Amino acid sequence: MDAAFLINKHPKLVKETYFCGMSTSNKKLKLWELDRVSPEEFKEQQKFPVVVILDSIRSLNNVGSFFRTCDAFNVEKLYLCGITATPPHREITKTAIGATESMEWEHVENVLELCDRLKAEGYQLCTIEQTENTTLLQNLPEVKGEKFAVVFGNEVDGVNQEIVDRSNYVLEIPQFGTKHSLNVSVCAGVVLWEFAKRFI
Ligand SMILES: C[S@@+](CC[C@H](N)C(=O)[O-])C[C@H]1O[C@@H](n2cnc3c(N)ncnc32)[C@H](O)[C@@H]1O
Repeated sequence: MDAAFLINKHPKLVKETYFCGMSTSNKKLKLWELDRVSPEEFKEQQKFPVVVILDSIRSLNNVGSFFRTCDAFNVEKLYLCGITATPPHREITKTAIGATESMEWEHVENVLELCDRLKAEGYQLCTIEQTENTTLLQNLPEVKGEKFAVVFGNEVDGVNQEIVDRSNYVLEIPQFGTKHSLNVSVCAGVVLWEFAKRFI
């Protein structure tokens, strides 16, 4: 995918590293100086070939957080599956802070049917989970021209085993501390940035 469409709006994408020396001014930017696209412009903007699937996410705050992160990383569409709650909802709005207006989303009851349909449409099914045979996120191979359907799982039960079994890749974020897993919406930031980097 050619990200030339992003360069005018985001000139920093082609700049080099700035060394923050004592003599260099580095004022924090105000919200309006960030010059973001409007929700209407975002809807029209070409997206990265990535869709996100939430497999029965229980926390409304996590759902809202996914909206915000998917907006940031130019995701095509967010699928809210199974018991995952949908907007409008006060608790989702709290963490989405407006991204429910920009992101395209759809509720799909049967996540397995959705995964099968997206695979048939040529998406690589990438499940984010901890299983016996995972690819660590940093080792996901570079494959040109692919589109990705990225699945995140329930806070307690994780991703449905039948989805794991259908996946082209199961991706794991390495952890080095005492906790077994990360909060699922934290995973969204880590994983979706890894995908976005492929397209800029
Ligand atoms: C809190 S975890 C679920 C707990 C655990 N996977 C289980 O099945 O008991 C919720 C979701 O976060 C994601 N997740 C959390 N930590 C992860 C990690 N280190 N690598 C990959 N995915 C992770 C997965 O999508 C997982 O389904």
